[in-house]
Amino acid sequence: MININNELKIMHACELGAVGVYRGHKCVARYFFRTNLAELDSMRFHEKSHVEIFKSELINRNARTCRMSPLFFWGGLFYGVFIGMFGLKSIGISTSSIESIVVHELDLVLEKFDNKSSLYGVIQQVKLEELEHKDSGENLAGKNFWLSNFVFKFSRFSAYAAKSLASVL
Ligand SMILES: [Fe+2]
Ligand SMILES: [Fe+2]
Repeated sequence: MININNELKIMHACELGAVGVYRGHKCVARYFFRTNLAELDSMRFHEKSHVEIFKSELINRNARTCRMSPLFFWGGLFYGVFIGMFGLKSIGISTSSIESIVVHELDLVLEKFDNKSSLYGVIQQVKLEELEHKDSGENLAGKNFWLSNFVFKFSRFSAYAAKSLASVL
């Protein structure tokens, strides 16, 4: 039996983390690559709306969010600034890597949900925006970035660490 509240709690925390990540990228972009500011900011807006979506689903179910949930935002922010310091390609690789994990995880959640429920449609809507983010990341990343292996591994590690933390908090 799937624990919907727990899935929602994890998704909410991870979306908060994503808001932090794009906020961190934006902080760096403001100084070093202003032309991409709008693109990064639009992703941040999507993530903020995802946070609100999952938060209201949790409220409707009388369920709680993660303990210490602001931690996810701050962790994401720190990560976003760190990755941004290696440049735009680094942001691109991180974005495509994290967003492909998000899409994969949302697919796993969707498999467990009733496809006639309203929540199923909501998550599918979120997934479409995450797919857009993944494409934006791939475009920003381009090819032949010397740190791509490091950024890829670090982003995967961070994304799964956030998910594991969210499931126990
Ligand atoms: Fe999101
Ligand atoms: Fe996203």
